[in-house]
Amino acid sequence: MTWWQRSVVYQIYPRSFMDSDGDGMGDLRGITAKLDYLHTLGVDVVWLCPVYPHGGVDGGYDITDYRGIAPEYGTLADWQELLAGLHTRGMKLVMDLVVNHTSDRHPWFLEARKGVGSPHRDYYLWEPGRDGGPPSNWGSHFGGSAWQLDPATGEYYLHLFAPEQPDLNWASPTVRREVYDLMRFWLDLGIDGFRMDTINMLSKAPGYPDTAPGSDYAYPLAEEHFLNGPELLTYLREMHAEVLSAYDVMTVGETPGVNPDQAAVLTDPQTGPLSMVFQFDHMALDKDTGSARPRWTTVPYSVPELKAVLGRWQTGLHGRGWNSLYLSNHDVPRMVSRYGDDGAYRVASAKLLATLLFTLQGTPYVYQGDELGVPNAKFTSIDDYRDVDTLNLYREEVTEGGRDPADILAMIHNKGRDNARTPMPWNAGPGAGFTTGTPWIPLNPTYADINAEAALADPDSVYWYYRDLIRLRRGHPAIVDGRYDDLRPTHDTLYAYLRTHAQEQLLVLLNFGGAVLDLDGVLEIPANAELLIGNYAAPGEVPSGTLQPWEARVYVTRTVEETGTPG
Ligand code: GLC
Repeated sequence: MTWWQRSVVYQIYPRSFMDSDGDGMGDLRGITAKLDYLHTLGVDVVWLCPVYPHGGVDGGYDITDYRGIAPEYGTLADWQELLAGLHTRGMKLVMDLVVNHTSDRHPWFLEARKGVGSPHRDYYLWEPGRDGGPPSNWGSHFGGSAWQLDPATGEYYLHLFAPEQPDLNWASPTVRREVYDLMRFWLDLGIDGFRMDTINMLSKAPGYPDTAPGSDYAYPLAEEHFLNGPELLTYLREMHAEVLSAYDVMTVGETPGVNPDQAAVLTDPQTGPLSMVFQFDHMALDKDTGSARPRWTTVPYSVPELKAVLGRWQTGLHGRGWNSLYLSNHDVPRMVSRYGDDGAYRVASAKLLATLLFTLQGTPYVYQGDELGVPNAKFTSIDDYRDVDTLNLYREEVTEGGRDPADILAMIHNKGRDNARTPMPWNAGPGAGFTTGTPWIPLNPTYADINAEAALADPDSVYWYYRDLIRLRRGHPAIVDGRYDDLRPTHDTLYAYLRTHAQEQLLVLLNFGGAVLDLDGVLEIPANAELLIGNYAAPGEVPSGTLQPWEARVYVTRTVEETGTPG
């Protein structure tokens, strides 16, 4: 097992973690000031979302300078101090690599748009229009066409995200060399890896064929024409050979739309160009796939389907590749609101979800604030939102489409990206202890109750439970390396699985939902099972055969021979 297979990663959205200078935005010195908080939690690696100079459109994912630090975050010296602070504590740093696109204010694009003869022209993807409109019907992730007309030359450029995020032309060897150089720049400064943004979008289908509309939406996402495209593996293998193979680093590719077989190729222990991927199958469980904008819809997810999806990935990659484990990040709602119960059972369900996250095979990712059980922020006015994706939805549906603002706000409350982007609640004081100034986005209204100071003072808090789970993971090879067996795949609320490795077997029981569950006739807990951790019962206790609402338990049964398969 490698160090990154044994690690737990903590994701920091720098704008919202900790503000050290009172400008209302988080910054690098703020993060450095909070390293002991992370060290106590027990995480091994920090993934830092982009801190580079950017165009101000997509929260840092529209980069104007790949080798710099945005002034609001500090300086390269501040960054080096953060890196040193992490390394001194035995923690590692992973940087975000955003190379499917740049900002339209990046010097490459400014040069490229000067004319068709510009030496930088082919850094990007340009096409003539068709019948007076864009070259194909491809839609952008943030709404509207994925093609933007450049009036000066009469050509269109491709942007899979905002128009201010033109896609790079990966078919150009010069572009690839530029990317490899900037990767070496950070690696040589001592970082420990990259999280690779939208990395399986690098290779587009030749000719940009139209996608079947599928709905009445004018510009559908043409995912089949840009996810896992024909040259993707060639590019990633080249990147690995040219750059990554020379360093002991981890990489995690953001790869929507991959299946376990594709992920196994990407992360094969011998030949895979990446360490692990972020797959999205479980992110689709609560979408209404029949609607025009599935991503913005919410339907109750089914527990058997959740088990089926996670199980497919557990068995599909076992021994063949490596997966990440996550239930939230800066692009999706808070996990306790989405998969748990952020009302009466907020604490219990946050702990149950963490139990799931930390006992499957893969590298777990904790998104900032989830270790406190922070729920979605539900702002009542669109003026409180900042995310380009959210604001575009509102503009298209309400301002231009005439829909009821309440309906669209309800969608945003469930699915908007700003749910996860409100400032870290450090304490109940002014600015939640995050800033002495005015935060760039309003605070999550729950901060007076749900904050780090309160969590640290409460031995039963979600935070300490995370710390215990992280320790537990370290002590049990069955979690990192064991086989996974789902014991009751079709049960409506019980998620029960075994993790089996050499002489050790763990049994995990999770009661998904607010109802008490009598295990009698459902599953028998083996007589020799010893409770390791639980969100109701304490280790060593012999809990009853009834699971409380959102109860989670992890048992160890010492030897495989003794135990067999329970139930
Ligand atoms: C990834 C990022 C997201 C960003 C998009 C475009 O999905 O996680 O925040 O908007 O890529 O870079």
